[in-house]
Amino acid sequence: MRRHPLAQMIALGVFAAIVGTAIVLLMDWFPTGADTAAPTIDTLYDVLLVFSVPIFVLVMSVVIYSVVKFRARPGDMGDGAPIHGNTRLEVFWVTVPFLIVTGLSVYGWVVLNDIEKKKPNTMIVNVTAQQFTWHFDYPGQKVTSDQLMLPKDRPVEFRLHSKDVIHSFWVPEFRLKSDIVPGMTTKIRLTPNRVGSWNVVCAELCGLGHSTMRQQVTVMPSSAFQAWVQKNGKGGQQAAGGGQAGGAAAGKSAFASNGCAGCHTFKASNASGTVGPNLDQLKAVAAKREKGKSAAAYVKQSIEDPRAFTVKGFPKNVMPTTFKKDIPPQQLDALVQYLLGGGK
Ligand code: CUA
Repeated sequence: MRRHPLAQMIALGVFAAIVGTAIVLLMDWFPTGADTAAPTIDTLYDVLLVFSVPIFVLVMSVVIYSVVKFRARPGDMGDGAPIHGNTRLEVFWVTVPFLIVTGLSVYGWVVLNDIEKKKPNTMIVNVTAQQFTWHFDYPGQKVTSDQLMLPKDRPVEFRLHSKDVIHSFWVPEFRLKSDIVPGMTTKIRLTPNRVGSWNVVCAELCGLGHSTMRQQVTVMPSSAFQAWVQKNGKGGQQAAGGGQAGGAAAGKSAFASNGCAGCHTFKASNASGTVGPNLDQLKAVAAKREKGKSAAAYVKQSIEDPRAFTVKGFPKNVMPTTFKKDIPPQQLDALVQYLLGGGK
């Protein structure tokens, strides 16, 4: 029972395409969604799979089949039969992909446009990314935080800013993701609809500490969010070392708000980063480096001009050079004292 190669090829291709599509549709691509956009995006993703996987599998099986079936046998020096163009076939393979790609683009655009529609009662959250940490600022609530807290069922607009290089803001449970480009403000709008804790992860390679650039996001009932705002709002912030207050509180606050914990270990601040040197050992290292310079001057220089000296065993050019510009002198002095004093 010998069948024509073309029929054999198509039968094989169709069979493989069905199996391939079934496999990818059965796969769990994303974690359980936590915002109103998740179901629509999951559907969009499945539709894209249904259009792209069968075509990919079909083309690949036809190619592999042809390579095996029509390979040159030993002693075969010929070029094979001459091939003529086939206008009908060419029109077909240009038109069909064009229609599919156009249709999918329009569908994707409609879905995104619908998700990003402005909604009433939207809360603004300014997100600042830097190597290798995140800061969140709620202008309407007058709160700044290193953790992302969100009330359930309230629309949020994230305004994304970067202090240094390109990062990418992504919470897999929310599905939406956006690059953060220095000098630009990019936006994401979504409405969380499930209570729980997940991670904000950076999805753009941004340096050695990229993989550590993650922070918790917590979605909570509206009442709990209000309580959090009350506790961490303007009043609480000042007590934590704002204004003129100096000393350890100011140092601790400077450590937290500049993302030092993203890279360094420092017990007093519950920091356990491993990208840069362990700051619990700072005093010993600084003492060794003194040579006519005070330990405080060395630490200050290491923050303002991190390229001047790299601790042995750590890679060069990793620490951001933006701190000289970002930390006011008073705060910087407090930070230096805080670090040298082991948190006191
Ligand atoms: Cu920031 Cu990767």
